[in-house]
Amino acid sequence: TVPSEPDVTALRELARHLALEAGALVRGGRPDRVEVAGTKSSDVDPVTAMDRASEDLLRRRLAVQRPEDAVLGEEGGGTPGTSGLTWVLDPIDGTVNYLYGVSSWAVSVAVVAGEPDPASWTVLAGAVHSVVDGVTWSAGRGQGADRDGTAIQVRRAASLATCLVGTGFGYAAERREQQARVLVEVLPRVRDVRRLGSAAIDLCLVGDGSLDLYYERGLNPWDMAAGGLVAAEAGARVSGLHGAPATVDMTVAGTPERQAELVALLESTGADAAVR
Ligand code: IPD
Ligand code: CA
Ligand code: CA
Ligand code: CA
Repeated sequence: TVPSEPDVTALRELARHLALEAGALVRGGRPDRVEVAGTKSSDVDPVTAMDRASEDLLRRRLAVQRPEDAVLGEEGGGTPGTSGLTWVLDPIDGTVNYLYGVSSWAVSVAVVAGEPDPASWTVLAGAVHSVVDGVTWSAGRGQGADRDGTAIQVRRAASLATCLVGTGFGYAAERREQQARVLVEVLPRVRDVRRLGSAAIDLCLVGDGSLDLYYERGLNPWDMAAGGLVAAEAGARVSGLHGAPATVDMTVAGTPERQAELVALLESTGADAAVR
């Protein structure tokens, strides 16, 4: 039998619905003092019980509604499927903000065709729900992107010097030293830099024109799947350095002309060089 074409509209709507449902769970479950349930790469990567509760909810819904699809989630890893589609889940993106009560955190849900690897996947649909701010972005491949139902487009900044640039920092100390060195080169050449604390939201803010550019090294598939599609469908170029696609090595997003300038600047700083 010939596998049927995926229904991008239905997948997009499901991604949006799931992000909203999990977001409500996570928000409702936030105690006044959030417990740090464990740590991963270092003490600044707290994994709360709500990360797991959110991903469990998403997985339970998908097991019923999309039983043939695979799942890749930050907390639960990979679960195989038979359809060739994989749901890529970040149950809370911006965990540190969530922990501290800063509003920029989101649930990110995307569905990709092919291996769930940013170097080769095709992202079909995705949604990012910024829960406290009550904003939801979604996109479908070839359909464009929206913010709360209104179509969005990237902003066209006239020069790098007038760009507001989002970025983020990984949790490993060696990586941070390198990111700090890169920042020294970027900061004097742009309008200003924001470190908002959720890669998924950063990418969506490029899509809706709230940020001109965004770059970060070290993103995992679940950080960039939905937000990267939102940015791209809103007219952004999303890539890595040296002609590579956006991967863990580097993700750069923005309006095409300015994105190319930032890529060149990052290449000149060795932003993707191996860290000791
Ligand atoms: C993190 C956030 C942060 C980014 C980190 C991510 P998490 O995800 O997206 O903005 O700088 O690279 O790991 O751990 O909050 O899901
Ligand atoms: Ca994390
Ligand atoms: Ca994340
Ligand atoms: Ca997370």
